[in-house]
Amino acid sequence: MASAGYDLVVVANRLPVDVTLDDDGNPSWTRSPGGLVTALEPVVQGSDGAWVGWGGAADLDLEPFDADDMRLVPVPLSEDELTDYYEGFSNDTLWPLYHDVIQPPTFHRQWWDVYQRVNRRFAEAAAAQAAPGATIWVHDYQLQLVPKMLRDARPDLVIGFFDHIPFPAYGIYAQLPWRRQVIEGLLGADVIGFQRLADAGNFARAVRRLLGYETRGSVIDVPVRDGEAVGHRRVKTNRRGIRVRTVLAKQFPISIDAQRYQELASRPDIQARAHQIREELGDPRTIMLGVDRLDYTKGIRHRLKAYGELLRDRSIDVDDITLVQVASPSRERVETYKQLRDEVELTVSRINGDYSTISHTAISYLHQGYPREEMVALYLAADVMLVTALRDGMNLVAKEYVASRIDNDGVLVLSEFTGASDELKQALLVNPHDIEGLKDAMLQAIHMPKRERARRMRALRKRVLTYDVQRWSATFLDALAHVTSDDDYGAYERAQQASSVPGSVAPSES
Ligand code: G6P
Repeated sequence: MASAGYDLVVVANRLPVDVTLDDDGNPSWTRSPGGLVTALEPVVQGSDGAWVGWGGAADLDLEPFDADDMRLVPVPLSEDELTDYYEGFSNDTLWPLYHDVIQPPTFHRQWWDVYQRVNRRFAEAAAAQAAPGATIWVHDYQLQLVPKMLRDARPDLVIGFFDHIPFPAYGIYAQLPWRRQVIEGLLGADVIGFQRLADAGNFARAVRRLLGYETRGSVIDVPVRDGEAVGHRRVKTNRRGIRVRTVLAKQFPISIDAQRYQELASRPDIQARAHQIREELGDPRTIMLGVDRLDYTKGIRHRLKAYGELLRDRSIDVDDITLVQVASPSRERVETYKQLRDEVELTVSRINGDYSTISHTAISYLHQGYPREEMVALYLAADVMLVTALRDGMNLVAKEYVASRIDNDGVLVLSEFTGASDELKQALLVNPHDIEGLKDAMLQAIHMPKRERARRMRALRKRVLTYDVQRWSATFLDALAHVTSDDDYGAYERAQQASSVPGSVAPSES
């Protein structure tokens, strides 16, 4: 870093690595879970930037360090802050609320107090790393207050925010007791990115309803307070005679480092591992695969129900088929996650007890995370990939499967409640609540002729390889550069729409 700081600072709840300390206090690290890290890692690796985040364990007080070609700046969280900010407000209030209240959210004033305090700590840590006029890119629902805190402290900074999860319809969002403060926190950013057009629309509606600001398409006019420093931003007077600055809130559908997956899938050792996986599973005619964090938004129970009924109805036979379900451990101290684990594991053992034979197992259930190489081998081994989320911001597993299928084979069954379904139209799209429909789609996937599989997969691959994560970040950072320049932002917006960049892909449903 230059002594004056970094020009790009990424701020996310987690660092891309989980840190553990040995008995002598020496750190070592492993890759941390989730889609956010998958997407952002290549962005920071390719720049001279820093990543500010939590190291994955309580009370870690570490100096900034380098790992995997990135400058990592740890933010410490105490055991109590983990309970109130991370497990509480982030994952037991916001997460269920933003995922359409699949589970009821819990509202605790104490959690909110700690959420504010921790957001301030992240904002201060980011400001300390930022060069004058630097770009700060804040990520996800855990840090929604950071943009305003940064803007107040450092008006010179260019601030972007990306929401990796859905933004709910106003009728749901309105339940949040601190709904106004959260919107104000986000509006501290110059550009607010969402996964889907529908999310950006929900946000704009919340802004109109709660703050009465004017919105035009994806442009929001945010009034400038008396004496507020605006840095180099252009301020104009709107038709009501109010001084406003421009905030852009629109969809930038996230993706993966598709080239990297393709390269892994071409490696002979990984292909050999895929064959070995098939053999070890008893060489079934069809391998179906589910890969998820063990989260109630992922629709794992619906998937298991449909699969169990297909076995019961004798539509499929355990001698021919097996389901591999990777469920990586997640948020294990939160009650709803504990319950989910119990339910999923009970269902898996029931199905296995009822239908497995000595030589064939109905479901191989793996409650573990795996390195990327092993995941790609699994993707290559799987004839059918099941993504049945009840609500999901994007779902990068679907894109990883497609990027890995260099053989143009394999069938993707994809929930229409994922952001990915806006783009991956040639998948077999399903409503996971409709168990009969899900069963039909599974059968269709199992029996799909090779030509049709290839036709669909080719089209899916074209999409994923074109709109990769490099393009995503370039598009977002380009919008950020324009909205904070002297350009007429409206003109930039119109040009973008005309050229139909990925950010302006319209979903077919919301
Ligand atoms: C999702 C969220 C991320 C989060 C990840 C893993 O992808 O959008 O913000 O980091 O899940 O969850 P965790 O709670 O373990 O960080």
